[in-house]
Order: sequence, then structure tokens, then C-alpha cells
Amino acid sequence: MDAYELQGHTLDSLRRLLLPTPSPGPGEVVVRVEAASVNYRDYALATGRYQSSLPRPFVPLSDGVGRIEAVGEGVEDLRIGDRVVGLYATAWQDGPFRSAYHASKLGGPLDGWLAQYIRLPANAALRAPEFLDVEQVSVLPVSGLTAWTALRRLQLRPGAHLLVQGTGSVSLMALQLAVADGIDVIATTSDEAKAELLRTLGARAVIDYKRTPDLAAVVRDLTDGRGVDGIVDVVGGNALLALLDAAADNAHIAIVGFLQGFEVNGNLIAPIMSRQLNVHGVSVGGRRDLEDFLAAVERHRIEPVVGAVHGFDDAVAAIASIGSNRAIGKPVIRMD
Ligand SMILES: NC(=O)c1ccc[n+]([C@@H]2O[C@H](COP(=O)([O-])OP(=O)(O)OC[C@H]3O[C@@H](n4cnc5c(N)ncnc54)[C@H](OP(=O)(O)O)[C@@H]3O)[C@@H](O)[C@H]2O)c1
Repeated sequence: MDAYELQGHTLDSLRRLLLPTPSPGPGEVVVRVEAASVNYRDYALATGRYQSSLPRPFVPLSDGVGRIEAVGEGVEDLRIGDRVVGLYATAWQDGPFRSAYHASKLGGPLDGWLAQYIRLPANAALRAPEFLDVEQVSVLPVSGLTAWTALRRLQLRPGAHLLVQGTGSVSLMALQLAVADGIDVIATTSDEAKAELLRTLGARAVIDYKRTPDLAAVVRDLTDGRGVDGIVDVVGGNALLALLDAAADNAHIAIVGFLQGFEVNGNLIAPIMSRQLNVHGVSVGGRRDLEDFLAAVERHRIEPVVGAVHGFDDAVAAIASIGSNRAIGKPVIRMD
């Protein structure tokens, strides 16, 4: 089959080559890939910025969708032709997260979606919503599920205030899911054209984070002085310190991303302790979460926002584009 492998720690080490077409073992399925989407993690792995000790080579990309081509012995609930998405941490079926699940991730260390076919354990293949096109479905299993999991951690009730940051895929899905649940969303962006989209998707207020020196003060003004009850933090770094000032007493904060970095230099402990803030780490989600998320997408007819659509020949450029991505939504690669 036609595929790409990440063989090293640079974009040049993403090689297109022919690999053996997989066949399913007992309890497995083989999926003919229709579309895959690119996450920051894929770019970070392909440029040596993240987890450089992860063994190479592997087929990259963690987010994808396709139709079942072959089923192995003992697989009963999936049929040839079913459209499925893959569970990112394939071993995380139910219950709380365990560090051992990192070893079962698609797109490194396990082979991912940037190939004509992918082999999956049958219990890591879930039927995809048929009302969406393949590009839209391709952003659900990683960034979409991450937004779902983050919101579950925040435990917000209808009418509660939520802050989401920027117009990346996780933030947009968090906004869409929260609005569907009657939560009041304040969003940030650095771009007026994107602000319009955020309002269209249901944000009550949009703040330009680059032109607003005291973001927390504006958020407090917008919430009668209280601050927000929940934050989905995709930025990290020192921006987290300023963000904590925007949180209400007892607020919940989901730590999701590291766009500004992993390190925080400053007083993190005092605000968390004195205002009893609840900080939750989020790592995508398990099978039960993905089932619940896909059901919510169907129920609310949520249409994910996608970015530029690339062909398979253009896959390296699609991954590289994340490094300078100013577009709304994630790049998607179509296999046909
Ligand atoms: N923990 C997990 O399970 C998990 C899963 C998926 C992704 N992630 C992480 O989550 C982060 C976001 O990923 P993504 O794919 O949703 O988005 P993305 O495409 O990486 O997000 C880019 C957007 O973020 C906004 N942004 C950048 N710097 C910002 C800042 N300082 N303040 C506010 N917004 C800022 C910008 O929005 P504007 O252009 O509108 O300004 C930018 O367009 C990444 O770090 C990714 O690795 C984590």
C-alpha cells in the first residue's frame, strides 16, 4: 500500500513508500482510509519538538476515518463497508486513564492514518456519524474528543460561564459542545475575521487576546465580577498565570495544550490554593468517552469546522502548514 513513514526527527524524514497492505488478525479490522487530519502533535513529532524518544519508524497521524475493508476472526459487531473512526489510545476502553495507554496511541508509537489502510483492534474502531462528510469526521477522534473530555472535567451546568482560547480545533469544538448544552461561552482570538465565526458558533463575547493587556479584567466585567466557572486551556506557559485571574472561586480548569510551552514561571500555587481552583489534566479520552461524544455530535447535529483540504501527494506540506497555521480549523488530507 501507499503510505508515509516518519523515519527520523525532521520533516525531510517523512518518507513516502510502499508498505505491505495489512490483513486483520483475530479481533482486528482493516480500514481503507478516506481522510485524516493533522494535529499539532503530528507536526511536533515530525520536527523533533515532542517525544523525541518515541521509536521510529511509524506511519503518522492520529485522527482519521475510513471504511472497513476486512474483518478478522471473532469480530461480530462491525461489518465490511462500515464507516469508522479510530480510538487514539487504542487500549483505553473504559475507566480512568493509565500511563500505560500512551504506548497504544495511533500515529506514534503505533502506525497511524497516513496510509491507504490501517489495521485496528476492533474495539478501537467506532462507527462514525453518517450525516457528516469525511473531512468533518476526520477531526472528531482526537481534537473533538479532547474538547468533550475537557468539558466533562469542568462539570458546568447550563448558564455557567466558560472561557475558550483561539480558533484551533479543540477550542472550536469545546465552544460548539458548550453552546449546545446551554453554557455561556466567552472566546478569544487574535483575528477579527475569526471573531465573526466564533460569534456565529454561539460565543456571547469575543476578546482579542493580543490587544487586551488585562484579559482577566475583561472576563470579570463580562461575568458581573465573578470570573468564569470553567476554562479549556490550550495555551499553557506563562499565559496560564494570567488566565487564573479570570477564574471564579472554585472554578475548574482543563489543561489541554501547550501552544505557549510547558513551563510556567511564577506564582501558580497561591491562586489555586486560595481560591480553591480545580485543575485537571486532559489526554484525549477513552472508548466510552468517544462513544458518548459521537452520540452527542449526532444528537446536536454538530458540524465540526475543518481547515484546508490537501491531497495525499501533498501530505508533507499539510503537516508542515501547522507550523505557520493561521487558518481556522485543522488541515485535512484526503486519500483519494
Ligand atoms: N491534551 C490533549 O489531549 C490534546 C489533544 C489535542 C490537542 N492538544 C493540544 O492543544 C493545543 C491546541 O490544539 P488545536 O489543534 O486545537 O489548535 P491549534 O490549531 O494548534 O491552535 C492554533 C490557534 O490557537 C490560538 N492561539 C495560539 N496562541 C494563543 C494564545 N497565546 N492565546 C490564545 N490563543 C492562542 C490561535 O487562534 P487565533 O488564530 O484565533 O488567535 C491559533 O490559530 C495544542 O497545544 C495541541 O497540542 C492536546
